[in-house]
Amino acid sequence: MAKLKERLSAKVQEQRPRTQKLLKEHADVKIGEVTIGQAIGGGRGVRMLVTDISYLDPMEGIRFRGKTIPETFAALPKVPGSGYPYVEAFWWFLLTGDVPTNEETLDVVREFQAHREVPAYVGTVLRAMPRDAHPMVMFSTAILAMERESTFVKRYNQGMKKDEYWDATYDDATSLLAKLPSIAALIYRLKYKGDAQIAADPKLDFGGNFAHQMGFAKPYDDVARMYFILHSDHESGNVSAHTTHLVASALSDAYYALSAGIDGLAGPLHGLANQEVLRWIMKFQEKLGGAEPTEENVKQALWDTLKAGQVIPGYGHAVLRKTDPRYVAQMEFCQKHLPHDPLFKLVNMIYKVAPGVLTEHGKTKNPWPNVDAQSGVIQWYYGLKEWDFYTVLFGVGRAIGVLANITWDRALGYPIERPKSVTTKMLEDVASKAIHHDELGSD
Ligand SMILES: CC(C)(COP(=O)(O)OP(=O)(O)OC[C@H]1O[C@@H](n2cnc3c(N)ncnc32)[C@H](O)[C@@H]1OP(=O)(O)O)[C@@H](O)C(=O)NCCC(=O)NCCS
Repeated sequence: MAKLKERLSAKVQEQRPRTQKLLKEHADVKIGEVTIGQAIGGGRGVRMLVTDISYLDPMEGIRFRGKTIPETFAALPKVPGSGYPYVEAFWWFLLTGDVPTNEETLDVVREFQAHREVPAYVGTVLRAMPRDAHPMVMFSTAILAMERESTFVKRYNQGMKKDEYWDATYDDATSLLAKLPSIAALIYRLKYKGDAQIAADPKLDFGGNFAHQMGFAKPYDDVARMYFILHSDHESGNVSAHTTHLVASALSDAYYALSAGIDGLAGPLHGLANQEVLRWIMKFQEKLGGAEPTEENVKQALWDTLKAGQVIPGYGHAVLRKTDPRYVAQMEFCQKHLPHDPLFKLVNMIYKVAPGVLTEHGKTKNPWPNVDAQSGVIQWYYGLKEWDFYTVLFGVGRAIGVLANITWDRALGYPIERPKSVTTKMLEDVASKAIHHDELGSD
């Protein structure tokens, strides 16, 4: 058995009694209440999901297993000659909550290498699709097409016991995750490089092989590692994480669940915002017609967007109320590696101006930038200029978090998700005090 699965198995045995005790002895303890605004308003702030893998504080930002982004990067074993940790070490860390040793990390590296090969039919499916299909459609389709590989389904059909569900989900998650960088690179080179594919290098790690198969030289391997880790998890309520969790709660396997989560990530209010940021910047530069960007013309362009009834991509957040630390981590990378890049300078200028414009506009609860405002600049600088591909990169990273989450969902026996809906008339009756909310019933 892989070292990681062994450790995870011990953690699962440790954690299960905690969840069972809460359910048995404290199931009626209230952790919040729901208002009409929250029911209509997308469940904002409603506490109804449980995960130990990451936690998002509105002011501090994300912590993975209790560690901030800088603490996470500092703690995990690094690839020799590289400034960033192995993605494989991060996968161990998210699953177990423990920082792996170098030897444990290399065990995961070998496990991923053993599962890296993408079935040939995935290429056949992708090549049969219209070449102008969005890369996120291709990515989601490739994942779904591999559902026939699911160990969970095979074992379920053989009568697998409920307390083994996590074990089969772990196997599916490992097999799927190990293939995702190669699938992303296959899509990239199919769509934009005339289908000139680069074979995987069996010796390389997750990030290193991704850079290799994409065809980008160092330090793009580090960019990939940083990018995948930063985009992995943002607690459970965001669209991609929640969708994956929801679909998996029906015991749909990891392939179905991740494919669905990727579909949610493809929305412009969620992961697609990273391509929208680049699109916005390019349109702005086109309008300038070669003139220098200034704070004045940036401000004007932001107002033009808002007055046209559109959102400023890369700004605002449903939970965060300050600059996203994932934005800061990428900004620091740019300050170190590309301080004089004109696109980076422009993004900084937008950062100077946009929060003021959004505050004056007066709608958004958070005028500060999120992860997507900065990520495209780095990709562009290293030669990945096809911005409609950017969300696929986000998707590879997001898979790490959501697959870790559904493995734990099955380990702790979380049931099928099924919140209750009410009608508009019921809300009107509660609002006018014609009935008390207790009279609505609970199921
Ligand atoms: C992320 C986002 C979807 C969060 O939505 P939310 O939780 O509903 O945000 P708020 O509560 O602050 O929204 C209140 C209002 O401000 C608007 N708003 C929020 N962010 C905005 C932005 N960046 N530009 C313009 N308006 C914005 C909302 O559209 C909403 O308008 P409405 O009352 O007319 O419906 C939203 O901020 C957004 O659309 N941002 C741009 C897209 C983006 O960067 N997404 C990636 C997120 S990681």
